[in-house]
Amino acid sequence: MSKKRIGILTSGGDCPGLNAVIRGAVKTSGQLGYDCVGFLKGYEGLYDPVQYKTLTPKNTTGILNQGGTILGSTNKGRFAATVGVSDRVELDPELLAGVKTTIDQLGIEGLICVGGDGSLAVAQQFHEYGIPVVGVPKTIDNDLSATAFTFGFDSAIDCATNALDRLHTTAASHERIMVLEVMGRHAGWIALHAGIAGGGDVILIPEISWTYEDVCHKILDRESQGKRFTLVVVAEGAQLPEGGLVAEDQQGAQARLGGIGHLVAAEIERRLHRETRTSVLGHLQRGGAPTTFDRVLATQYGAHAVRLVLEGRFGEMVCYHPPEIKSVPIIEAVNKLRQVEPHGSAVQAARALGVSFGDQGASESPFAIKIETTEASTADDVELDADFVLDLAEAATEEALS
Ligand code: F6P
Repeated sequence: MSKKRIGILTSGGDCPGLNAVIRGAVKTSGQLGYDCVGFLKGYEGLYDPVQYKTLTPKNTTGILNQGGTILGSTNKGRFAATVGVSDRVELDPELLAGVKTTIDQLGIEGLICVGGDGSLAVAQQFHEYGIPVVGVPKTIDNDLSATAFTFGFDSAIDCATNALDRLHTTAASHERIMVLEVMGRHAGWIALHAGIAGGGDVILIPEISWTYEDVCHKILDRESQGKRFTLVVVAEGAQLPEGGLVAEDQQGAQARLGGIGHLVAAEIERRLHRETRTSVLGHLQRGGAPTTFDRVLATQYGAHAVRLVLEGRFGEMVCYHPPEIKSVPIIEAVNKLRQVEPHGSAVQAARALGVSFGDQGASESPFAIKIETTEASTADDVELDADFVLDLAEAATEEALS
């Protein structure tokens, strides 16, 4: 008698860790007596023509640290369930019926859909149609609700941080202003985290309005302290001060963002007459081997996605609520974009160290918003002395630069 089968596919823009999810799911399936089928080119491989390959622990060996996806992926084509950021588009009923037939004929007990918000919106419509799916959250943008981290994000910020480390030395040598444009769509997670990890001086993100005056003010302020170079990190989805996003072109209903780095650099140069250069990191952030963190997260996602199938928890998505892997209904993840909290602890800490978000005129104490206490805490309230923390931060920065 043939064994039961689990299906898996990777959809949307690729990112490091997809192969680690596939390997995690295949090995887990094998241990539990299931065969695994991998559909090719995202959802496209599910129907007309059906394209798949049998995945075994043997033919997925050695892929844990490989970037990309051995199954291929697509973020265009017939399976688009959203327009713009999240407006729902109904999938063609003929497509849905075709996919259901494929799943039934191949005897697939559950289909693991690895994707970002757009791809998971397709999975949600499959679920509503009665196709047994579970989701795995993927994207370098880290903008999915219901999970603290998507895999791929850590690898992307590692790449962007390395880029900042490199820009740092050349910026210092030439006393230049360096602008680094990073990806992230309408969320500033990559810019914020890489900016903090790479010692950025100015971080411009979609969630915080900024002005050129304040960016230039920060640059001049650094100069007055003898620091004759500045690193500016700008998220591709940051709004221009005059309003609007910078897009390279329109990709279907979705604008392909990019180009803001050059605009910011040109305006800084025009206003301050300082040499300013731009680097656009682009798809380097999506390529290469996953970091250790992403390998661990992706492996857990793969294993727990199989578990969801076995437990019949269709329509759910694995998610990370540190320190545990849990699950939520897919609909909760695709309903709303998860953006940076402008008063969150990461932004506060960056401000405390003197990082500018291009809105300095508007800011008071970086710790204006109190840190929430956890249930286990015995303190009534946590209130930090901002001056004390700023002194500490300044002393540490001086020491690091000396
Ligand atoms: O969603 C991941 C992402 O890399 C975004 O950060 C970026 O805006 C977009 O995909 C680029 O898409 P494409 O690879 O289609 O140019």
